[in-house]
Amino acid sequence: MIPTPHINVSEQGIIAETVLMPGDPLRAKFIAETYLENPIQFNEIRNMFGYTGTYKGKKVSVMGSGMGIPSIGIYSYELIHFYGVKNLIRIGSCGALQKDIKIRDIIIGMSASTTSNFAMQYNLPGTYAPTASWPLMKKAIEVADSKGIEIKVGNVLSADVFYDDDADSWKQWAKMGVLAIEMEAAALYMNASRAGVNALGIFTVSDSFTSHEVTTAEERQTSFTNMMEIALECV
Ligand code: HPA
Repeated sequence: MIPTPHINVSEQGIIAETVLMPGDPLRAKFIAETYLENPIQFNEIRNMFGYTGTYKGKKVSVMGSGMGIPSIGIYSYELIHFYGVKNLIRIGSCGALQKDIKIRDIIIGMSASTTSNFAMQYNLPGTYAPTASWPLMKKAIEVADSKGIEIKVGNVLSADVFYDDDADSWKQWAKMGVLAIEMEAAALYMNASRAGVNALGIFTVSDSFTSHEVTTAEERQTSFTNMMEIALECV
């Protein structure tokens, strides 16, 4: 039933089949104004701005997800089940857990471990492995390769806690080969898998748990641009 509680769109076709989802709604606005042709804003409830435009002639939407699993869980569910969205690409930042992953690197989340209980709703008789959709991931890797953009592909951790009471808990995940921490991909992957649609998370490394490396705003912009190009070329 539309409009939904969180997206104020009363007609089908306003939201594209492919939606890019940055965490920050103002990032969605920036992306729409910078990369899309003729962007139209479709949502402003809770300031979770969403836009539809075209990129190289193809219809695409971009909408904020908010921070954390409950937030992206709500928005991605409504997009998939009420607006017919088929491809959801999270574009976000992450914190690196491995020494060989540097600030500004681009990571593709092949899978997303999590500290969240989101999967509990499915009553599975075991532990679920939230996984990106292969067609989207394959396309993203091909785009990165063709542009000469270096990427790392692997498991990320979708954490429920940013300020962890146990400041060393990340080391346990690092030992298991997890590349980086973010806070949304696992719910996105589960919602998409459950509904039989496609999801992918692409991340730029904004901070490092191993080196505490910092970067300039200009450097962040370059890696952000590379991540955006990969996401948009997947459309
Ligand atoms: N933790 C969780 N999410 C993040 C981080 C982090 O350190 N950096 C960027 N997104």
